[in-house]
Amino acid sequence: MSSYKKTGNYIDVETLISLAEAGGCDSLSLTSSRRLSLMLGVSQQSAARRIKKLEEKGYIEREVTAGGQKIRITSEGKEILKILYTRLRKIFEICDTSTIFISGEVTSGMGEGKYYISRSEYMNQFKEKLDFEPYSGTLNIKLITEEDLKLKKALSEFEGITIDGFVHETRTFGDARCFMCEIEGRECAVILPIRTHHTLTTLEVIAPEKLRDNLQLKDGDIITLKIFI
Ligand code: CDP
Repeated sequence: MSSYKKTGNYIDVETLISLAEAGGCDSLSLTSSRRLSLMLGVSQQSAARRIKKLEEKGYIEREVTAGGQKIRITSEGKEILKILYTRLRKIFEICDTSTIFISGEVTSGMGEGKYYISRSEYMNQFKEKLDFEPYSGTLNIKLITEEDLKLKKALSEFEGITIDGFVHETRTFGDARCFMCEIEGRECAVILPIRTHHTLTTLEVIAPEKLRDNLQLKDGDIITLKIFI
């Protein structure tokens, strides 16, 4: 299920937020269509239509009284707001901090990392921009949880350190972006190539040392990257 579907229709969400702000989250609160139409900036008719829809979907309960209507957001409605809250909180937590922790499983690739990393055109830039000479290869980290996959997506929104691509004979080597990181306190960098055979579920790490040997890593081990953005 997409996050959009989980969070609900945008208009429903907007209406739910206004109702919650009007005090209808925990108790029945008196909310006239007029008040709601002012809060939402729509006509009273539209406000009434939106309320009806929310009621049909089970997001609110209402009691029509002489003075107007009393509305309470149901637990289903609150769930919609909570999902939105969690999504937004994650975005702002990432924006407000300068580190992202991503975990995954050490996995073997097809030996392609070595081929790319050892190109002198890339190697010279790693030395200059990352301030270390990488071991020629990449440690592949397979991301398992949805949370980690989302974090990788979020990471790719940041600028990072640009590694320029180049053309060698007839072959084009693409641009990449690096982010300095640490694995168990050891300096390394995540490399996000623009051109890659890796699916979205893998992160590649370069380091001045062979991490597998020095950290005694084997396929299937779970490691956590502390990534600086
Ligand atoms: O793509 P594949 O995992 O087969 O290999 P590679 O990128 O050519 O790297 C060679 C080996 O070194 C792999 O087992 C990597 O996991 C490992 N490696 C490492 O332990 N530490 C690094 N900094 C880079 C690669």
